[in-house]
Amino acid sequence: MNYQDCIREIPDFPKKGILFKDITPIFKNPEAFHNLIEDLYNKVKELDFDYIAGIEARGFLVGVPLALKMNKGFIPIRKKGKLPGEVIRAEYELEYGSNTLEMHKDAFEPGSKILIIDDLLATGGTVSASIEMIENLNGQVAGLAFILELTFLNGRERLSKFPVISLIKD
Ligand code: PRP
Repeated sequence: MNYQDCIREIPDFPKKGILFKDITPIFKNPEAFHNLIEDLYNKVKELDFDYIAGIEARGFLVGVPLALKMNKGFIPIRKKGKLPGEVIRAEYELEYGSNTLEMHKDAFEPGSKILIIDDLLATGGTVSASIEMIENLNGQVAGLAFILELTFLNGRERLSKFPVISLIKD
């Protein structure tokens, strides 16, 4: 089964008027899950990086299996208050209000090259906050990879400094 056929649309989630793209059926189907990781692998394998950083929560679902396949370390980027060690944080704007992401200050060695992974590129706010933290810790962002890109939100425009890979454009 193709992973592209395993994404379902749920209307009015998380709030009225939003058509939510639900990727959970991909992970239920081993063939689709395998195809997804294989496809991502083929798109990122030419990039030069040391670590994969996954953004909570759905970025973990793809970042971890890809890191294992590519023999790279995995670094979690988490929502506020979840990481136990010393952290760096970055705030980003949501439609209403703001949110905060955190990384461990010693998550990687200065100068490391990092590929950031998440399930979805929408406005690009979440991934921009992640880039900010990595650069503040003297890391180099080697690329950004997503399963889905909502092109009408133009998130890619603010990311033009980096290679941006998305498997499905909507
Ligand atoms: C979703 C998605 C991305 C982010 C993309 O996460 O998983 O992380 O939104 O949106 P943006 O490009 O506009 O920043 P969400 O904030 O829903 O958190 P969750 O993964 O923990 O549910």
